Amino acid sequence: RISLGETRPEIVKLGSAERSEEVGYSSPDRGTRVKVYGRVHRFRGQKEVLFVELRDGYGYMQCVLTGPLARTYDALTLTRETSMMIKGEMRELLPGKEAPNDREMHADYFEIIGKAPGGEDAITNRVQAKGDAQTLLDMRHLVLRGETGSAVMLIRDAVEHAFNTKYHELGYVKVSPPALVQTQVEGGSTLFDMAYYNERAYLTQSSQLYLETALPFAGNCYCIEKSFRAEKSLTRRHLSEYTHVEAELDFITFDDLLAHLEDLICGVLELVLGNPRIAPMLQTLNPDFTMPERPFKRMKYTDAITWLNEHEIPNEEGQPHAFGDDIAEAAERRMTDIINRPIFLTHFPAEIKAFYMQKDEKDPRVTESVDCLMPGVGEIVGGSMRIWDYEELMAAYEREGIGAEPYYWYTDQRRYGSSPHGGYGLGLERFLAWLCKQHTVRDTCFYPRYMGRCKP
Ligand code: 4AD
Repeated sequence: RISLGETRPEIVKLGSAERSEEVGYSSPDRGTRVKVYGRVHRFRGQKEVLFVELRDGYGYMQCVLTGPLARTYDALTLTRETSMMIKGEMRELLPGKEAPNDREMHADYFEIIGKAPGGEDAITNRVQAKGDAQTLLDMRHLVLRGETGSAVMLIRDAVEHAFNTKYHELGYVKVSPPALVQTQVEGGSTLFDMAYYNERAYLTQSSQLYLETALPFAGNCYCIEKSFRAEKSLTRRHLSEYTHVEAELDFITFDDLLAHLEDLICGVLELVLGNPRIAPMLQTLNPDFTMPERPFKRMKYTDAITWLNEHEIPNEEGQPHAFGDDIAEAAERRMTDIINRPIFLTHFPAEIKAFYMQKDEKDPRVTESVDCLMPGVGEIVGGSMRIWDYEELMAAYEREGIGAEPYYWYTDQRRYGSSPHGGYGLGLERFLAWLCKQHTVRDTCFYPRYMGRCKP
């Protein structure tokens, strides 16, 4: 039994047939016997021949049914998505023919395992979108069987694995912070709150505060967890539930933080692009993708304001941008698309950023903060140095109108051996939208959640 995508399958050799070192098999009539399981991705019939392309999640294989096999009832009534087992012999493709991995299997036996419906209920009818994104989302469980949907999911797996690998190479410890919390991180307006026995609780907006508490026992640390935001706007890059790659680094400067981020992003990309199974999928989805140039462009918030005004890109009120404006999604994306390379946008004004951000010693109007912007998507990472002075943190709660009491465990980090530290959060779905050239983060997560959708 072999997996359909394997180029060097586990095989049972028959007779004297030699396995070619390449993907194809040299002996046209005495090839290698294999047994495969999968679902019918597509099929087409030609007179006495049925070409069945099987899919098993690992890859695709063309299986050729000929003669009496092609005339059986099961073959004549075959439907897409039917699961089956096929046994046969690997053959080289005839010149000029095309099939996945440049090979095909000539079947001499098959069994239907789970027949899928045809006619009205055929999968092709169920996922027929007619350009309707909502229907596709209702049918996401079936859409994911398609080539694009499944490729994005497989790339996602490789990317998540690459983050874990990269962090462990760097010696970072993975921790698993709670999803049910009683503190906010990124402002009250996007909190999902809920009854928690006899108390109120929230779904976490970010694991950052908990990660900071891991520094004293774990050193540099990270997590890959869900974050939840009650986003009330429907955009192509906002979800209500997303996967957040977050890390916290101890005893560092802001420059260290930026250098690490660049290293991490490029390291992950190298691992993913070097993955022989994943690289061809990326090539199909995003043929123009190139490794970002290092160092990433660094741009201060104040310079971005000047840049936007020079390029006549107005703020949300249609006015020229001024210091203190939040750079809105549209403006940010236009700027990133024009500059067309990754940008570290740094030093945002304190009043538009979160309470915990460390101020810049040289200019206390601004914080040691960074957004990493990518062409096509805009912000994929938000990070900063954290306030590490006790009094300063207490003043920040006060300024933001946050009661300090529920944060006692966070505040204690500033009492029991404080340290200059910083970290960031990377939105996995946005990273994937950029990497896989997908229009929306709704297509880069398994089952998207956003305002108005909580199914399937
Ligand atoms: O900039 P944000 O809000 O930063 C934080 O949450 C920090 N506490 C993270 C940290 O320092 N540990 O979010 C970080 C990233 C954004 O850059 C974006 O990629 C993603 O999380 N993100 C979302 N992705 C999808 N849907 C949403 N609603 C998102 N909100 C943020």
